[in-house]
Formats: sequence, C-alpha cells, structure tokens
Amino acid sequence: RKRVVAFISGGGSNMLALAKAAADPDFPAEIVAVFSDKAGAGGLARAEALGIATRTFLRKDFTSKDAHEAAIIEALDALSPDLICLAGYMRLISGAFVSRYEGRILNIHPSLLPLFPGLNTHQRAIDAGMRIAGCTVHFVTEGMDEGPAIVQAAVPVLPDDTAGTLAARVLTVEHRSYPLALRLVAEGKVRMEGGKAVATGDLPRIDGA
Ligand code: GAR
Repeated sequence: RKRVVAFISGGGSNMLALAKAAADPDFPAEIVAVFSDKAGAGGLARAEALGIATRTFLRKDFTSKDAHEAAIIEALDALSPDLICLAGYMRLISGAFVSRYEGRILNIHPSLLPLFPGLNTHQRAIDAGMRIAGCTVHFVTEGMDEGPAIVQAAVPVLPDDTAGTLAARVLTVEHRSYPLALRLVAEGKVRMEGGKAVATGDLPRIDGA
C-alpha cells in the first residue's frame, strides 16, 4: 500500500474520509501520519483516536517560513511517504517543496476549479449567481489551487443557500471525491505528466447529491 501523509489545519473531515477508506485492507493507500500547522486542530484528535501518528508544526515556533517548511520536510522525508494529501491545509507550500514531491501531492478545494480558487470560495460562488458548485481534487503545482484535476464533483446551489449551507453540501461530495482520487493515483490509474492529469482506462464518476 502507498504511504500517505495528510496535512490539515482544521477539523480534518477529509482526512477522516481518507482514513476510513484506508481502513479497508483492499484500499491501495494507508495514512501513516497527519501533520498539522495548528495546535488543537480538531483533526488531530480524530487521527489519534484512529491510532494515526500526528505532528504539529506551528509557524510561530520558527523564525521564517523557510525554516518552518524545512522542519516539515525533514519530518516528512523521515516517513518516506509515497503521496501527500493536503486536506484543509490552509498554507501555501513552496515551489521547492512541490518539486521535491513532484506529482505526488494532492489537494482538495471546495470549488469547481479553476473557478473560485483561494479563500471565501462559497460566498463568491453564491455572489456570482452560480447554479452549481462542487469540489476539485487536483495535483499540486506551484500556484495556489492550481494544478490538474483528478476528480471533480458537482452539487446544486439552492436559492436560500448561505456560504455555510453550501459548504456543508459541497463537503458531502468532498468526502467521496478525495478517497476516489487517492485510490486512482495510488493505483497508478491517474498520474501527472507534463502538467496534465493523464488517466489510464475509464474513470468512475461522482454524481452530485
Ligand atoms: C474543506 O472544505 C476543504 O476543501 C477546504 O477546507 C475544508 C477543510 O475541511 N480547503 C480549502 O479551502 C483549501 N483551499 P476539513 O478540515 O473538515 O477536511
């Protein structure tokens, strides 16, 4: 099984969805550790409850962004991960980090990229009058929320939606999309080549709730 380190900053519900999928011995990947940049991130307790090792790297404990990231990379390298899953990790990783793990870093973003990258994505989708929203699991490249999509899933935007209700609906498809994307990459059915996601064979679809 491929060794995965998940990076979180918050509640870790996507990390948990990956860990639950990986509880099946037939799943091609396992979560070997969870790294957080926030003390007390809800996901840390959830990971520990599953017996997954956790590490926390607070930015304020380091003199620079580079020193913070160097510590993270050192701990990461020691685990020899095959793949890294950013799961609600709210920090931009450097180009050096991206190239060190080229094609092996996945991220989930709660919009149909390339629409609405960055923060406040649900409110921006509502303000733009979108009738559908969704999520994207993609390979990480240097730009924020860029990089080729592996799996996308759509949900409707309803007339009374707030950013909160829309976020909750998108999250339900995130929890199905991320395990699927991780499985496809871990099995070698999707890989990044020349900046594109290349698939072998037909890929399964996620239909929105
Ligand atoms: C998820 O909706 C994820 O897509 C989003 O943060 C949430 C984390 O929830 N990520 C981003 O906005 C990254 N740009 P979780 O901690 O419960 O998985």
